Amino acid sequence: MIKTVKSYFVCQSCGAKSSRWTGRCATCEDWNTLVEESGTSLDFISRNTKTVSPVGLNIESLDQDYEKQERIETILKEFNRVTGGGIVPSSAILISGEPGIGKSTLLLQLGASLSQSKYKILYFSGEEASSQIRLRADRLGLRSCPLGLVAETNIEKILSTLVNNKAEVVIIDSIQTLWSEQIDSAPGTVSQVRFSTQALIRFAKNSGTALILVGHVTKEGQIAGPKIVEHMVDTVLYFEGDTGQPYRILRTTKNRYGATDEIAVFEMLQLGLKEILNPSELFLGDRDQSIPGVSVFPSMEGTRPILVEFQALVLQSSLGTPRRAVVGWDTNRLSMILAVLEARCGLCFSHHDIFLNVAGGLRIHEPGADLAVASALISSFTGKPMSRGSVYFGEISLSGAVRPIGHTTHRLKEAKKLGFQEAVVSESSDLGPDIMNIAVKKISHVKELTKEKIQDKNT
Ligand code: TYD
Ligand code: MG
Repeated sequence: MIKTVKSYFVCQSCGAKSSRWTGRCATCEDWNTLVEESGTSLDFISRNTKTVSPVGLNIESLDQDYEKQERIETILKEFNRVTGGGIVPSSAILISGEPGIGKSTLLLQLGASLSQSKYKILYFSGEEASSQIRLRADRLGLRSCPLGLVAETNIEKILSTLVNNKAEVVIIDSIQTLWSEQIDSAPGTVSQVRFSTQALIRFAKNSGTALILVGHVTKEGQIAGPKIVEHMVDTVLYFEGDTGQPYRILRTTKNRYGATDEIAVFEMLQLGLKEILNPSELFLGDRDQSIPGVSVFPSMEGTRPILVEFQALVLQSSLGTPRRAVVGWDTNRLSMILAVLEARCGLCFSHHDIFLNVAGGLRIHEPGADLAVASALISSFTGKPMSRGSVYFGEISLSGAVRPIGHTTHRLKEAKKLGFQEAVVSESSDLGPDIMNIAVKKISHVKELTKEKIQDKNT
């Protein structure tokens, strides 16, 4: 049979195929992502994934026995937390993040520490030469660890090395550098990354080896090239942080073996990454002085409570359209709170510039932070500091009513642990049987927050 070599245009963002080049992908609507890839490569993938069984398949039942696999616990407690209790054998973990954030450093520390216990670890580097990795290991004081190091990008060579050298954990740094002889496109394209990842995952499932893959992300926060990799792996961890600041956050966005939205906090030091076991202290900022515009919110990141400080600055504006700058929170949510404060409490912010910041570079997604944001805004507006010993949590509805949020006990416990004496919460909060030794002030409407502040201002 004559093989027709047809080329396709493949979107490097979502993997959609098109027979014509267009400036914008019709599926994901990203611009300039279509790249020509040879048809044979795609045929090859479909040929390899198609299996026709003449005998039919075994149908199994749910109650059949299965082999319980023991997780590989690492020395990094925070890493164990985000993976749901350690690395599961045969699983594939993707760690993604912007270049320079510290992925290679984290994995070298992780791999080296595991190799010192009973596990055999192989580290394949496609980005750095062995000498560069040795240099880093020197800096981290890990030169004597029995970690297997290979600088290679060809997937066939990597797989044959893996077949001949059994390892418990294999680290691939990074998937974007891998290429196969069977695919015509350049390394980093969807076909190459998909083929290599598929081959590695198939190997991991069959051999019991756990796989940790590194993936770079683009500025928009997507894994450069294919999002497809996210669907293929069992766990996706994002390593994020401001490169200007030493703090790094490892966040679980997908986990087939544990909870998502867990976070681990690290600090990048001269001698590598150090775990931060109590991040509340880090995100709280300086608590010695009473400053207007500051209030504390006990947030929940996965199963862990973390206290964060909201800082608001409300200033008279000289501009026709006043400025609204928000870091670490949702701008639309801020507009909503401002509208509620204006409509329900009579506070008018229309001639004021407003700056809102979450200290320490954390991003808060919970609507339960509404009450803390409102109190920071009111405090800055009135020039009166909020009580230093109080935390605030509750969702504000458009009517101004304060609604309860979940995990009250966890939040109160963390606040108490860090020396707070009072919590301002919704009237209908379910406090549970064992409230900690902390005073709870219940409010039903946001007006109750403003009342005392406005009176203060008038006196
Ligand atoms: P790296 O792990 O190479 O990042 P990635 O693999 O995500 O691209 O880390 C790069 C940065 O970390 C680099 O700018 C230097 C810094 N760094 C330290 O501050 N301390 C250290 O001990 C190490 C090894 C790196
Ligand atoms: Mg790297």
